[in-house]
Amino acid sequence: MSNETFDNRSVPVDKQVIQESVLAKEENQDGPFRVLTRKKMIGRYKCSSCHTAKPVTANSALELTHGDIAIEHGREGQALSCIDCHHLEERDFLEDKKGRKIDFDHSYQLCGQCHFRQKRDWLGGAHGKRVANWGGERVVFNCTTCHNPHSPRFKKRFPATYSVPLD
Ligand code: HEC
Ligand code: HEC
Ligand code: HEC
Ligand code: HEC
Repeated sequence: MSNETFDNRSVPVDKQVIQESVLAKEENQDGPFRVLTRKKMIGRYKCSSCHTAKPVTANSALELTHGDIAIEHGREGQALSCIDCHHLEERDFLEDKKGRKIDFDHSYQLCGQCHFRQKRDWLGGAHGKRVANWGGERVVFNCTTCHNPHSPRFKKRFPATYSVPLD
């Protein structure tokens, strides 16, 4: 109704952000909902474009391809390892603790195994963010829309102040 006037004024309405989403493999108290996809946002996806059955022989191949990834995730002095999350053979997938494949678009299933309280809050809407529409279909951010899985903690920072400094 963005073209209609209200109180004799026209009300500017922000255009809805159209982002790709998929039906979540979970339900909450309101039933099914959707979650923002991830695969198109992941620069190195598809992983299988490099991860084939052929052994890698190039020197420093790991450093050249994944040297930017530093794991700051896990308990003090016990960083998680790649295969706590990534499928060992099928790199295009994540893996849960029971060895089941998890699609990158459904990475909340991976995080939720260890962070079940945050996942429960996320399901209910107390953690994370809903995209547009309070009325229509529920679409929410994925865990990795906000958190970098390799270094998920947000850096502490001071709130910015916009007031004139007092002297
Ligand atoms: C440009 C090529 C390339 C792409 C794309 C790529 N990888 Fe790799 N990856 C490598 C190479 C080379 C290695 C090191 C040799 C090996 O283990 O096969 C490696 C190693 C790894 C390892 C093992 C790291 C270790 O410390 O042993 C993991 C896990 C991994 N890749 C995950 C992924 C995932 C997940 C993706 C997709 C999101 C991906 N890779 C995409 C080239 C690539
Ligand atoms: C806590 C779980 C977890 C651990 C541990 C982990 N990853 Fe990941 N990784 C993920 C998830 C989830 C994504 C997809 C992120 C997204 O949705 O953007 C990802 C993405 C990636 C990508 C694609 C990133 C890009 O932007 O191209 C690569 C490559 C990768 N991981 C390699 C590794 C390697 C190598 C290790 C070990 C040194 C590792 N990961 C450890 C969960 C993990
Ligand atoms: C295999 C278990 C495991 C998985 C899977 C996992 N995490 Fe973690 N995560 C941990 C552990 C262990 C810690 C460290 C907890 C602590 O220090 O109390 C942690 C810490 C964190 C923290 C920082 C917590 C704090 O209090 O500062 C965040 C945020 C986080 N993880 C988000 C994620 C997200 C997002 C995913 C999915 C991409 C994920 N985790 C997947 C085990 C896991
Ligand atoms: C809209 C962005 C957003 C989404 C989506 C999101 N988080 Fe968070 N998460 C945050 C912020 C912000 C914090 C607080 C960081 C702080 O206090 O330093 C946080 C904190 C955490 C923590 C630290 C403990 C705590 O509760 O403060 C964990 C663990 C965590 N998130 C896991 C998850 C998991 C698992 C998902 C998906 C099911 C998820 N997050 C989805 C933004 C998000």
